[in-house]
Amino acid sequence: MEIIHVSAECYPVAKAGGLGDVVGALPKYQCKAGHYAKVVMPMYETKFLHNNEFVVDYKGSTSMAGMPLNYTIIKERTNKLGFDLYLVDIKGLLDRPNIYSYSDDTERFVAFQIAVIDWMNQWGHLPDVVHCHDHHTALIPFMMQYCYAYKDKLAKVPTVLTIHNAQYQGWIGWEKKHYLPAYDEWKGGLLEWGKSINSLASGVKCAWKVTTVSWSYLEELRWSSNGLEKLFEYERGKCVGILNGIDNEVWNPKDDSYLSNHFTSRTVANGKQRNKLELCEQFGLDVRKPLIVFIGRLVGEKAADILPDSIMASIYAMQGSVSFLILGSGDPHVEWQLSNLNDSFPGYYHAVIGYNEALSHKMYAGADFLLMPSRVEPCGLNQMYAMRYGTVPMVRSTGGLQDTVKDMGEWEGFGIRFNNASVGDIHYSVSRAVAVYADTKHMLWMRRYMMNIDHSWESAIDNYMNVYRSMK
Ligand code: ADP
Ligand code: GLC
Repeated sequence: MEIIHVSAECYPVAKAGGLGDVVGALPKYQCKAGHYAKVVMPMYETKFLHNNEFVVDYKGSTSMAGMPLNYTIIKERTNKLGFDLYLVDIKGLLDRPNIYSYSDDTERFVAFQIAVIDWMNQWGHLPDVVHCHDHHTALIPFMMQYCYAYKDKLAKVPTVLTIHNAQYQGWIGWEKKHYLPAYDEWKGGLLEWGKSINSLASGVKCAWKVTTVSWSYLEELRWSSNGLEKLFEYERGKCVGILNGIDNEVWNPKDDSYLSNHFTSRTVANGKQRNKLELCEQFGLDVRKPLIVFIGRLVGEKAADILPDSIMASIYAMQGSVSFLILGSGDPHVEWQLSNLNDSFPGYYHAVIGYNEALSHKMYAGADFLLMPSRVEPCGLNQMYAMRYGTVPMVRSTGGLQDTVKDMGEWEGFGIRFNNASVGDIHYSVSRAVAVYADTKHMLWMRRYMMNIDHSWESAIDNYMNVYRSMK
């Protein structure tokens, strides 16, 4: 099968979070399974672009909002990611250092989507599936079926939309409707939700199939999806939950290139201790105490706003018998609060504000526990990376966290679960962590057990292939 993934992110080309990890791995494992999967994404000004060789695949020209839209499709020359990678270069719009957060993001991602279908429309053949990821690419199913310039050829190509996060929906005011290529006005309602163009809602209505990244999140969307609840209820027949995998080649404590101390489940006790020592020395923490880390976007979904109070409460209540290390960026106020604590609790706490791929790997490897109090977590990859590195996850029972972590109070449980994103629940979980940390035998059993759980992409691939086949 020929599958074309369309996405705003793909690791290691450009990543802001888990979407990048998934789009960097899913096509690779689809290719390994004998399919022909490729990725098309915007050409940002990233390190990857400058450190790799590309060839021009196609130069196209169309229009957007009555203005010429010239684009170039370049292709990575060596297939080094394990799949064909195509980047869409649109001068002045996409060629910037960051992925998101520009005031003209609407124009940028609409232009990207138009360029992708305009390019596909020139192909001598049709792909078996166009697989779109999140709202930045969710207008494509509508455009393929109802835009006059494309529908004759592309309307019959099956489309899948995977929802990694329904909180962000790509809202576009109707005054910008002329950004889209001319479409059958009778179908305009398929673009709308709540009085504006809603890219994600349009994708849910128009894609042939919709998937989301865990079973529990699929259920949650029907009662909590930032306004789309009724839509998910109505479209439930075409929605499927498929739990993400992780890329075991990138995330492997045995040969992770970011680590200086490698380990396996057999050598985890010693290996983790050596990684922990390195981290603790770097950040002035006491290696004898249990080390709890948080890695992630500092936003409300991740409940980052309650971290400062929860950490202070836990350090006081546990009388300093625990250490915290934070890595993240996001809400400036939370960044400021977390940085301020650096001065209040030296030796017990440290926060690194920013995005640092290398440090994240060292933290998964060196930590004892990973805290994820997320209010919303469609899948969550951090907890799976933590498990792979023998780090006990402490998670709120929601979405993918509840599908992947079993509380240590249950039969064969290996993690800590709690119900509320609150200071009280976090503090109680920290006290459970400190207590179990003292039980070296139990800790070792949990570490080894988690490290041997299979979260590889292989079984998820079969589930995606079944979805694709069901559209034939
Ligand atoms: P989300 O996509 O909602 O942010 P996930 O758990 O799916 O959450 O994936 C987050 C990914 O981003 C993981 O690979 C995690 O290690 C990485 N990550 C998040 N914040 C940072 C950061 N500040 N530095 C390095 N890696 C980060
Ligand atoms: C989103 C979700 C996260 C998920 C990731 C990959 O960013 O917030 O829970 O793991 O996508 O699917």
